[in-house]
Formats: sequence, structure tokens, C-alpha cells
Amino acid sequence: MMEILVLNGPNLNLLGMREPEIYGHRTYKDLEKLIEDHCKMRKIHVKIKQTNHEGLLVDYIQEALFDQIDGIIINPAAYTHTSVAILDALKAVKIPCVEVHISNPDEREAYRQVSYVREACLATIKGKGLEGYLEAIDKLIAYI
Ligand code: DQA
Repeated sequence: MMEILVLNGPNLNLLGMREPEIYGHRTYKDLEKLIEDHCKMRKIHVKIKQTNHEGLLVDYIQEALFDQIDGIIINPAAYTHTSVAILDALKAVKIPCVEVHISNPDEREAYRQVSYVREACLATIKGKGLEGYLEAIDKLIAYI
């Protein structure tokens, strides 16, 4: 059975209470349930991880190689706009990856216009709310 990994970066654990006008009122638990139900329907295994630490995201990406993960969905949150380390990790493991953002960073502050990880991803889904994760999963399945 196909196995995918969903990685979420800093502050996404605060979904629901964090700037709800941008990220909505649904919680991180709601997001996990949405993803789990979708993957059950698609008959694939999913692991979902969240961390506020850049190095841990790198560790999780590296571990995916040894866990024989078939594809990665990543929302690196603020590290999207700063982290060459996460980009390098994705390039190193060469596991198909889709980048997701709940909001559309392109329509926000200038410092959100750059995505370092994009270069290592087969697609970027942005501005589609939590449902963007589901679209990303379907893109990944289609690709794999
Ligand atoms: C985000 C967009 C980032 O710019 C921001 O730092 C986040 C969340 C999104 O999902 O819309 O934390 O990745």
C-alpha cells in the first residue's frame, strides 16, 4: 500500500486560533482528520507530523527515505521563505513532493513571495484553505 508523509511547519499546530481571518477557524486536529479520512477513501497510508523546528523538518524528510515513504506533502510555513536546509533535504531524498499553503503567500507581504522549497516540488497548491492538502494528496497519487 502506498504511504505518504504530511509535514507541517511552525505555528500550524495553532490552526483555529491563529489569525483565523487568514487561516480559518478549523483546528489542527480538524486538519488531521480531514487528511486521514481522505487517505482512507483513497486507500493509502498516511503519517502526519508537525514541528516548530527547522532541523526536525530536515530530520523527518531524511527519515522518510528509510521509512520507504512514497511521497511527501509539505507546508513548511514560515521556513518556506527562508530555508535552504529544507530544500536541500528534499533534493537529497528525491521523494516526490508537493508544497501546500493554506493562504496564498503571493497575495501577502513581499517577504512571503519567495519559496525555497518550490524548486524541489512537483507542484504548489496555495490559497485553497485546508482542502488544498487534499488536492495536493491527489496530485501526488496521480504522479506516483
Ligand atoms: C503558510 C504561509 C506562510 O507564509 C506562513 O508563514 C505560514 C503558513 C500557509 O499555509 O498559508 O505559517 O505556509
